[in-house]
Amino acid sequence: MSEGIYHTVTLRVRRGGARDAARYQEYQVPYEEGMSVLDALRWIRAHLDSSLAIRYSCINANACKTCMALVNGEVEYTCIARLTPEVMTVEPLPKRPLIRDLITDIVSEDEKL
Ligand code: FES
Repeated sequence: MSEGIYHTVTLRVRRGGARDAARYQEYQVPYEEGMSVLDALRWIRAHLDSSLAIRYSCINANACKTCMALVNGEVEYTCIARLTPEVMTVEPLPKRPLIRDLITDIVSEDEKL
């Protein structure tokens, strides 16, 4: 553990697909001040659960707009939403069709291939 990491944060993440009953999985993530929610989600995928579906591209430029999710009930870009040392709940966008976990369909009907 690096010197700046002093405890863990619990992330409650909505899991499953559109046909599944909502279920939440909890993950303990090492917390370092300045981390984003996306940093924590990427850490989960790398160290705990590679099956967690998330979407991102630019990571922190706030350019791609693909990382949006509900964080504690508010629509946020997860790459700029700061992780805080408390239990945080992350869910998919509620007004978009759910694909799986935190991934919703963001392509409009007339742009689908
Ligand atoms: S990852 Fe590109 S805006 Fe968040």
